[in-house]
Amino acid sequence: MGDKLKGRNAVVTGAGRGIGRAIAIALAEEGANVVVCDIGGAVDGTGGDRTPADQVVEECRKHGVKAIAQYGDVSKFADAEAAVKACVDSSGRIDILCNIAGIDKPKMIWNMSEQEWDQVIAVHLKGTFNFMRCAAPFMREQKFGRIINTTSEAWLGGVTHLNYAAAKGGIVTLTWGGAQELGPSGITVNAICPRAKTRMTDDPKVREMVVKRVEKGLMDASVLKRMDREMVDPSAFAKIAAFLASDDAAMINGQVFLTTAITIARYSKPETVTTAENPTEGPWTLDMIKAAFTPDKLLKGYVNPAPPPKEEKK
Ligand SMILES: NC(=O)c1ccc[n+]([C@@H]2O[C@H](COP(=O)([O-])OP(=O)(O)OC[C@H]3O[C@@H](n4cnc5c(N)ncnc54)[C@H](O)[C@@H]3O)[C@@H](O)[C@H]2O)c1
Repeated sequence: MGDKLKGRNAVVTGAGRGIGRAIAIALAEEGANVVVCDIGGAVDGTGGDRTPADQVVEECRKHGVKAIAQYGDVSKFADAEAAVKACVDSSGRIDILCNIAGIDKPKMIWNMSEQEWDQVIAVHLKGTFNFMRCAAPFMREQKFGRIINTTSEAWLGGVTHLNYAAAKGGIVTLTWGGAQELGPSGITVNAICPRAKTRMTDDPKVREMVVKRVEKGLMDASVLKRMDREMVDPSAFAKIAAFLASDDAAMINGQVFLTTAITIARYSKPETVTTAENPTEGPWTLDMIKAAFTPDKLLKGYVNPAPPPKEEKK
């Protein structure tokens, strides 16, 4: 056990299983007291069970720290308020907030129901807002705080679950903006973008597909090797969250990190890549706009990510 977070008090959502569990334990190993928040639901957000949160509380306590469970739903503002209050009531402060809870309800957009959209946005995006909103006043008062949000590579446009991808994109924006608003109060806001084997990602069919592609020479064998090294228990990188929560990371703010068992990578913020200026003093005309959308101007270096089939008729 280390002492990098000794005396610090953390709230970790989604801490009953997977990545949240690994991070809660990593924080406890470094001496932090932990509020373990988890509804104990299925991957699709149905059901509830207190056992996972209770078990993680027991595991944290083995490291000699205080740990308590909260079984609320992160998408409900009152439950976020209660979890943050539980942390402050039991330890006097909330120093660390890790927003990890998540669900997945994959569907192509033409099959996605309004409810499937709303529920995924509510758990990921509103849930992250709820806890940031409730923790921020305490952290500002303390002039100290560490917020670690969770995005996903789906943020970059993951198909088959646009509800999830859009929520994860929103979390990146919350992280960038939150860092700007809270940084001057001694609070850092960063996000992790994990790759790990959890019940959310453990699909043997994906590995089988990669094996077949490697066998057919359609994919390099290094892809499979990398996959096998990365799709492991999230405890392999959970200490990255402990680092971001520590005093050593005081100057790391507003960043998004890919976190796997073998890699830590820092994402850039998108920037404009091509520009066209209005050549007149008046409004853009259709002719001027058409002249701007050319391969030497706005479309320089552009590739359509999903062109229609060539034979398709309009
Ligand atoms: N596993 C990966 O490789 C991966 C990749 C990218 C992003 N993520 C993200 O990491 C986070 C953790 O995912 P995981 O893979 O550990 O999944 P997981 O299903 O193992 O764990 C998610 C936990 O969140 C809890 N939870 C879900 N909805 C909740 C709610 N409304 N209120 C409170 N708790 C709730 C669940 O009960 C569960 O314990 C998620 O935000 C997920 O989107 C995971």
